[in-house]
Amino acid sequence: MATHTEQLTRPAVRLRGLTRSFDDRTVLDAIDLDLPAGQFTALLGHSGSGKSTLLRAVAGLDHEVAGSGRLTAPETVSVVFQDSRLLPWRRVLANVLLGIEGNEAAHRARAALAEVGLAGREEAWPSELSGGEAQRAALARSLVREPELLLADEPFGALDALTRIRMHVLLRELWERHRPSVLLVTHDVDEAIVLADRVLVLDQGRIGLDLTIDRPHPRSYRDPLLGEYRERLLTALGVTEDHK
Ligand SMILES: Nc1ncnc2c1ncn2[C@@H]1O[C@H](COP(=O)(O)OP(=O)(O)OP(=O)(O)O)[C@@H](O)[C@H]1O
Ligand SMILES: [Mg+2]
Repeated sequence: MATHTEQLTRPAVRLRGLTRSFDDRTVLDAIDLDLPAGQFTALLGHSGSGKSTLLRAVAGLDHEVAGSGRLTAPETVSVVFQDSRLLPWRRVLANVLLGIEGNEAAHRARAALAEVGLAGREEAWPSELSGGEAQRAALARSLVREPELLLADEPFGALDALTRIRMHVLLRELWERHRPSVLLVTHDVDEAIVLADRVLVLDQGRIGLDLTIDRPHPRSYRDPLLGEYRERLLTALGVTEDHK
């Protein structure tokens, strides 16, 4: 396995001229972007700015993009969405195991469930889980695949504020342990600056701002030094004093 330093020397994602149009409307306009392996990056932007479109392109789920995309092999990419997408007719463990086989797999799946705090819930049905638990099961399903690249599209968007903060801590801890490259789509500025080491703002089809968040972890929402980053991001998003 590559060391962290080695990983950072080669990008997990290299986009060159990535363009996506729907009918006559260009949503992604010749985007150039490198995401170094092992980096935790957040992607912000207004609703409709193209965040999900960009994530789908990087995931390899969109075959109609122009330009070149990701470098990481498809089998080492995991995607987490706003809803857990657990299959209701499979128990939690079977959902985590979906599509993977082998003697080691069940053991790894149980370990992943324990990592997200769901030990003992292996035989539960998805309908018996809370929203936060279902999202944790979805994270376990991603983890068990040991992804090099984790793509997450507003994974905490449907959760209440307290659960969301717990999920932030959990995601960051999981990242510390496994060090995948992460691209986290969110429209929550605070979520982005608390979690990510780099925050991108998508605006008019381009990366309008590329900001390195140079603060140690774990970070607190209350850290006044994060305020400067928040201001810059809100300005890039066009949020002025009147709107706050
Ligand atoms: N399959 C599609 N056909 C036509 N238009 C689409 C399609 N998918 C996305 N779009 C358009 O592309 C634009 C970007 O959509 P996208 O879902 O990427 O936005 P987003 O930034 O993820 O927004 P949100 O924050 O609301 O999730 C939107 O205007 C949307 O209507
Ligand atoms: Mg979206």
